[in-house]
Amino acid sequence: MPDMFSDMANADPAIVKVFADRLEERARVPAQQAMLNDYLARLDFPDRARVLEVGSGTGPVCRTIASLDGVGEVVGVEPSAEFVRVANEVSSGLDNVRFEVGNGSALSFDDDSFDVVVMHTLLSHVPDRSGVLAEAHRVLDTGGQLAVFDADFAASTVSVMADDPLERCIDAFREGFVHDPYLVRHLVADVTSAGFEPGPMVSHGLVERPDEAFLVGWIEFGAGVLAADGRISAELANAYVAEAQRRLDAGTWFSFWPFVSLIARNGSR
Ligand SMILES: C[S@@+](CC[C@H](N)C(=O)[O-])C[C@H]1O[C@@H](n2cnc3c(N)ncnc32)[C@H](O)[C@@H]1O
Repeated sequence: MPDMFSDMANADPAIVKVFADRLEERARVPAQQAMLNDYLARLDFPDRARVLEVGSGTGPVCRTIASLDGVGEVVGVEPSAEFVRVANEVSSGLDNVRFEVGNGSALSFDDDSFDVVVMHTLLSHVPDRSGVLAEAHRVLDTGGQLAVFDADFAASTVSVMADDPLERCIDAFREGFVHDPYLVRHLVADVTSAGFEPGPMVSHGLVERPDEAFLVGWIEFGAGVLAADGRISAELANAYVAEAQRRLDAGTWFSFWPFVSLIARNGSR
């Protein structure tokens, strides 16, 4: 199964609705907001900064950036017309943010149009990573900054013991949902090849609160994929999901979802 975020424009409308809700739900998690605010605070926004978010989904990151002092205008580009519709609806009260349907590999903007480009949980889902980074480099003004924030999916875990059986579902989720689980491990090389000057990588380890644990959903998804592929029985898939619920009920659930942020300069053309 391909990464669903890599082709949201052509996804089933019911799936798009589920993902739109999940993106908004994730954006409301205080620990997610803290990570966003942490890396945004490391950016230098010039006065009346022009900011582009590539892969803006339903727009929560753009809404946060639009509320920062000094930010002039924020544009979100997103391939899914339905995500763009939701983003425009939710942001209707903000006059310095707008959303457009588009693809990060072929942006409609002129060279040097932006001071900051943000990619928030985008690149791990994108097959054409070099094309998206090349376009970001083109539209960023000289001296502008690229901010990349993404999960280290390869290190995400729910293990509470050696050979924890639930980890099989996490592996299936990674295989079926994340185009590149190792993205952050070659990110410095990628942005350097695209012509940027990367600063240090910063890690943001997120031990999820059980009542906000997105990795519970990964167990359900992974178990479902394993059963649908005939690799396990429906009974075993149900047992995996039941074990996750048992841990939640017993107060023994643990999930770790690490993230990384990297800020890189567009030094010159
Ligand atoms: C995990 S979501 C993140 C959305 C948003 N940045 C947020 O954090 O709420 C990834 C988004 O990237 C979009 N996307 C995938 N491939 C893209 C591409 N080539 N160019 C622009 N956006 C893309 C998807 O449609 C999806 O909305």
